[in-house]
Amino acid sequence: MIKVTVPATSANLGVGYDCLGLAFDLRATFQFQPASKLTITGCPEQFQNENNLVYRAFQAGCEALGDPVPPLAIKIDSPIPVSRGLGSSATCIVAGLAAAGEWFQTPFTQNELVQLATDFEGHPDNVTPAIYGGLCAGVQTDEGISVLSYPVADDLDFLAIVPDFTVSTDEARALLPNSVSYATATHQISHSLLLVRALMTGNLFDLRLALDDRLHEPYRKKLIANYDVVAEACDYFESSLYISGSGSTLIAITDDTPTRGMLRQKLMKQLPDWKIFPFAVDTAG
Ligand code: HSE
Repeated sequence: MIKVTVPATSANLGVGYDCLGLAFDLRATFQFQPASKLTITGCPEQFQNENNLVYRAFQAGCEALGDPVPPLAIKIDSPIPVSRGLGSSATCIVAGLAAAGEWFQTPFTQNELVQLATDFEGHPDNVTPAIYGGLCAGVQTDEGISVLSYPVADDLDFLAIVPDFTVSTDEARALLPNSVSYATATHQISHSLLLVRALMTGNLFDLRLALDDRLHEPYRKKLIANYDVVAEACDYFESSLYISGSGSTLIAITDDTPTRGMLRQKLMKQLPDWKIFPFAVDTAG
């Protein structure tokens, strides 16, 4: 039996669109076993077939290795909310690919996995931290993906604010303009540099300045009902806020645990149907 666990991830972190991502301590577990025919459990019935993302990624892994796809049983156990911008698809893709390598006793290197998973998902920002752990940039160069890993300051406290509705990534990407100005590009590059330093040093003042995205959040906020309620509460507690991936989850960052607790209490009262929980960075990969 092959068992793979993969962490949830939060992509973009505001100004790091399609590049930055953070792994956190909520993990999905996938088990793979030989069987007489394909069997998938632990997910809704409509996904218990050949179209299942884990299975398709497993097939892609077999193809990359040049090996035939065996009949197998896949058991999924994932606490990660689906279509909420917390990387649930990335966990399936990474797990399927990694399991194929293990199945044929030719495991992919982390970098090979990042490349294969990015080819599958289309962008590296979830799959890279899902594989390497921690805070990562996946940089798509002419020579393949370069992975940059950064330490995150211990004194930053993260809060996941998960709405009771989903957002489709395709819909959220379709909202974005086809091109941006030099001014926007310059703003974005400079602020993403500030963001990385602020996350490494834990400087919340810089973090609040850095989280001023102009590439995607202005277009996507409207998909998130009550975005303004959350933004006002974050302002009140002088904490940072960004849209996780393409949403619907929002992530708040404070620099002390009591403030995070007060922010959580306030939001739980205002948005009683949402799931609002603290999390820590997962550096294990
Ligand atoms: N970078 C992606 C986006 C993450 O924002 O569309 C969603 O998977």
